[in-house]
Amino acid sequence: MNIVVLCGGISTERDVSITSGTMVAKALRERGHKVVLLDSFFGCTEAYEKPEDLFAREIRQETIPVGEKEPDIEKIKALRNQDNESSLGNNVLEICRAADITFFALHGDEGENGKLQAAFDVAGIKYTGSGYLGSALAMNKSLSKKLFECSGILTPAGITVYAGEAPYADVGFPCVVKPCSGGSSVGTSIVKSREEYDSALELSFKYERAVIVEQYIKGRELTVGVMDGKAMPVIEIIPKEGFYNYKNKYQAGLTTELCPAPISDEITDRVQRLSEKVNSVLMIDAYCRVDYLMNDKGEIFCLEANTLPGMTPTSLIPQMAQAQGKSFGELCDEIIIVSMKKYR
Ligand SMILES: Nc1ncnc2c1ncn2[C@@H]1O[C@H](COP(=O)(O)OP(=O)(O)OP(=O)(O)O)[C@@H](O)[C@H]1O
Ligand SMILES: [Mg+2]
Repeated sequence: MNIVVLCGGISTERDVSITSGTMVAKALRERGHKVVLLDSFFGCTEAYEKPEDLFAREIRQETIPVGEKEPDIEKIKALRNQDNESSLGNNVLEICRAADITFFALHGDEGENGKLQAAFDVAGIKYTGSGYLGSALAMNKSLSKKLFECSGILTPAGITVYAGEAPYADVGFPCVVKPCSGGSSVGTSIVKSREEYDSALELSFKYERAVIVEQYIKGRELTVGVMDGKAMPVIEIIPKEGFYNYKNKYQAGLTTELCPAPISDEITDRVQRLSEKVNSVLMIDAYCRVDYLMNDKGEIFCLEANTLPGMTPTSLIPQMAQAQGKSFGELCDEIIIVSMKKYR
């Protein structure tokens, strides 16, 4: 197939996405596909006559390792020389239209929140992952939590606080303060006292006007992939220090991931069925990864679902696939095959 792998963009997860995209492009090439790796924000800077010609040239992108902190997006934006404000770079849609499918290796914000999915639908361009509605519902933690609550899916008690409104949400301490539509734990704090609360809120508001303040759940962290409606193996995540923050997510060796998670068959089954339910309640197509915390009473709280989960060397879905005997390349092909089902 001719495939565009779209990565980068201007979300706080830009660097993570470039790493995902680079790995996906390499794996798809090794499996015989013709791949153009494109940065969705910068577009294509190569000259070409017909976009089809690019697939023979296999345009690449420079890899950048994921740093300990998220990139400064204002600096990235200043680097682009384009005479319009579009968050898509020049020629991106045209090149994607020339492909058989676009593999979305984008994470966070535009890319994962449904806007790009809707734009591609309107333009008649095929892409991997969920459609616009599931993407939007899963991206917005405030909406997801409401849907969890009315579907009997346990989620930490919490409320959404908006910039400019009464900022103090009394959910008790410790609590967690996080941007409503963030990812990779950017802007997320665990708050132990009233003194820490205001600065945590200020940090989250740097990223978004809506912020989730929720009950802190002390317990074990689990995550489960769902592929084509069926749960993948469960992973337990154990950061060596602190919580599963940006640094612990992407610096190799800072977190232990156990797959399959050392939990009973009964709990494995419960969390897998729960993940399939989350996938359907949020109207997610193709694949996703659902994040949980389990307390010492065995209660399982759903935090969120990710519709374009990471595909980096430390990412979780590739580890689940490996436990099922699938290589990274086979996983990429599987994502393409199940994503095509939404076009039937
Ligand atoms: N209510 C909570 N109680 C305890 N820890 C929490 C809670 N909410 C979030 N966390 C911690 O913060 C991390 C990030 O939270 P969450 O998964 O909700 O957001 P995210 O930034 O969208 O994550 P992702 O990178 O998976 O997109 C979790 O993996 C967990 O370690
Ligand atoms: Mg998460």
